[in-house]
Amino acid sequence: MTQVNSAGIPLNVPAHVHHQRLIQWVADIAALTQAKDVYWCDGTEAEYNRLCGELVAAGTMTKLNPELRPNSYLACSDPTDVARVEDRTFICSQKKEDAGPTNNWMAPAEMRTLLQTGQPDGTPALFKGSMKGRTLYVVPFSMGPIGSPIAHIGVELSDSPYVAVNMRMMTRMGRAVLDVLGENGEFVPCVHTVGAPLAEGQKDVAWPCNKTKYIVHYPETREIWSYGSGYGGNALLGKKCFALRIASTMGRDQGWLAEHMLVLGVTQPNGVKRHVAAAFPSACGKTNFAMLIPPAGLKDAQGNTWKVTTIGDDIAWIKPGQDGRLYAINPEAGYFGVAPGTNHKTNPNCMDSLQRDAIFTNVALTPQGDVWWEGMTDVPPAELTDWQGKRWTPEIAKETGAKAAHPNARFTVAATNNPVLDADWDNPQGVAIDAFIFGGRRSTTVPLVTEARNWVEGVYMAATMGSETTAAAAGQQGVVRRDPFAMLPFMGYNMSDYFQHWLSLGQKLEGQGVKLPKIYCVNWFRKGADGKFVWPGYGENMRVLKWMLERVEGTAQGVEHVFGISPRYEDLSWSGLEFSRDQFDSVIGIDRAAWAEELKLHDELFEQLSYHLPEELRQTKAQIEKRLAA
Ligand code: GTP
Ligand code: SPV
Ligand code: MN
Repeated sequence: MTQVNSAGIPLNVPAHVHHQRLIQWVADIAALTQAKDVYWCDGTEAEYNRLCGELVAAGTMTKLNPELRPNSYLACSDPTDVARVEDRTFICSQKKEDAGPTNNWMAPAEMRTLLQTGQPDGTPALFKGSMKGRTLYVVPFSMGPIGSPIAHIGVELSDSPYVAVNMRMMTRMGRAVLDVLGENGEFVPCVHTVGAPLAEGQKDVAWPCNKTKYIVHYPETREIWSYGSGYGGNALLGKKCFALRIASTMGRDQGWLAEHMLVLGVTQPNGVKRHVAAAFPSACGKTNFAMLIPPAGLKDAQGNTWKVTTIGDDIAWIKPGQDGRLYAINPEAGYFGVAPGTNHKTNPNCMDSLQRDAIFTNVALTPQGDVWWEGMTDVPPAELTDWQGKRWTPEIAKETGAKAAHPNARFTVAATNNPVLDADWDNPQGVAIDAFIFGGRRSTTVPLVTEARNWVEGVYMAATMGSETTAAAAGQQGVVRRDPFAMLPFMGYNMSDYFQHWLSLGQKLEGQGVKLPKIYCVNWFRKGADGKFVWPGYGENMRVLKWMLERVEGTAQGVEHVFGISPRYEDLSWSGLEFSRDQFDSVIGIDRAAWAEELKLHDELFEQLSYHLPEELRQTKAQIEKRLAA
C-alpha cells in the first residue's frame, strides 16, 4: 500500500501496519524533514546485510576481512562526532525545577519553535528540511522482550542507516514490534536526524552530521528529538535517551527504577546463584565487570569454582515483584562497549563476543583488514590506518601521540554473541537483586570496597559518588566530578527527587518486611606514587565481589569506619594473587584529611541540590562528619 503525505513523499506503509497514529506521525515527520523517501525496517538479516552493503558503498563502513572477522564492519565517524554531548542534552519539562539543577533545561514551547515550528523572527526550525535527499528509516524497537509486560516500545525515525543497523543489534527491532503495537499500542516517538540535508545532486560525505547538536527529551509527553549527531547515545535513541532519561521519569511515576547498571549472575562454589546490579559512570568498568572470569585460584575445598554470567552491561530496569524483592531486567539486546583497553587478558569473554558479527566504530584498521585498538595487544602492529584514515605506526605515535583508535571507540554486538550470557538474560520476570554496587574512577580517597550499614547510608554513598571524567562524553577528561548513582548525564528529572524516590522505595519495601539488597561502594582505580593502578582489577575484582556476597550470606567479616564497613586483609581470599598487605592498605585506607576535603565536595553537591534534597541525606552526612571529628 503506497500512501503519499501532504508534501508528496511516498510513505511506503507496509500492508501489515494498521496503526493510524503511527502512520500519521511518520507522515508528519516526513513532511517536516522533507525526506526523499520512507523505509520501514523489518529487522531481518537480509535487510541488515543490504543496509550494511549500502553503508560500505557510501564509504561510511568498511567490510572487515571475513576470514579474520566474519560478518563485521568498521565505521569511522567525523572527528567532531565521537561521543555523547552532555552540554547539548536537554530535559524539557514544563517546570524548570522538574529538570533540576543538573540538567540543561529549556521550556518545551521554546524548544519546539527551535526544532519543529520555526522561530518568530523567521529562523526556520532545525528539523525543517533536515532529511532532504535522505531516506527516513522507520525503526520500531522494543526495550525488553517483545510483548512482555515489562517491555516498552519505541519507534525511531532516523535518516541514518548506521543507526538502523546498530539498533538491530542493540534492541529487539523490526516487524514483530509493529505486530505487537497493533492498531493502537503505546510507543515513545523518537526523531533523529544527522542534520545534513543533501541538495539535488550533492555528493554525500562518509559521516554526515552537523556542528549544531540538540539531544532533547520531553518527559511529560515522552518524546525524544535528536539533531546533528550520528554517534552512540546521541543517535541510538533506545539507549540513554529512552531507557534512562525517559524511563527514569516513568519509573518515578510508576514506582520502579531505570538505572545505569550492569546486571550479573554469580554462581557460588556451593551452587547457589546470586544477582548483583552495579552502577559505574561511563567508561568505568560495567561491561568488564558484567563479563568477568573469576581467577583460577578462587576455589572452595572441593575444587568448586565461581562463575559469572551476564544479564546486562549498561542499563537495568528494576521493579518490585510480588514478593517485594527487586527484580532487574536488561532492556537492551546488545552491547555498545568501549574498545580501548579490551584484550584477551582483561576481558576474554568480550574478545570472544567480538570474533564475528560486530560493528566497530572509530578503531584502527590493519593491512590485513582486521581491527586494532590501544591495549588490544602488548605489541602494536607495525602499521595501521588510524580511525581518521591516516597512516599510523608505533613510531609516528611516539612522536605525535596520535592514537590509532579514538579513546571512545566502540563495538556494537548482539548479546547472543556473549559466551557467558546468563540463561535468564531475557526472562521477562527479571532476576532478584541481592546487592547493589556503586563505583567511581578515583585515583585517591575512596576505598576498594565499602559496605553501607543500611539503605539510607547506601543511598548517601551513591548520591555523593565522585568520578574522574572519561572520553565517553565530549569535554575535559580526568576531572573529578560528582556523578550521583552514575546517572548525572542520564537523569530525566530532578536529581533530589530521584534520591527521594530511592529512599521512599527502600522505606516502603522495608515496611513490608522485605530484606533489602545490601549496598556497596567500590573503587578499582586507586593509583600509587608511580601513577599506576595499584589494584589489578578486571577478573581479580571477583575477590571483592566474593567478599560482598559472603557479607550477603552473613559469613564474611569486616571493620566499621567513618564511611561504612570494609574488609581487612585477612577477610579477602588471596590464593593465586600476589598482593601484599601494604598494597592492600594503599587501596583500602581512609585518609582523614582527604575525607575532610571529600566532604566539602559533598557539601557543594548538597548546596547545588538543596531544592527537595531529602533530610535523611543531610543527617547521614552529619553522622559521617561526627565520626570523622571523633
Ligand atoms: P560505558 O559503556 O561507557 O557505560 O562504559 P563501561 O562502564 O561499560 O566501562 P568498560 O567496562 O567498557 O570499561 C571502560 C574502560 O575501563 C576500559 O578501557 C577498560 O579496560 C577499563 N576498565 C574496566 N574495568 C577495569 C578495572 O577493573 N581496572 C582498570 N584499571 N581498568 C578497568
Ligand atoms: C555511556 O556513555 O555510558 C555509554 C555509551 O554507554 S553511549 O551509548 O554513547 O551513551
Ligand atoms: Mn553506559
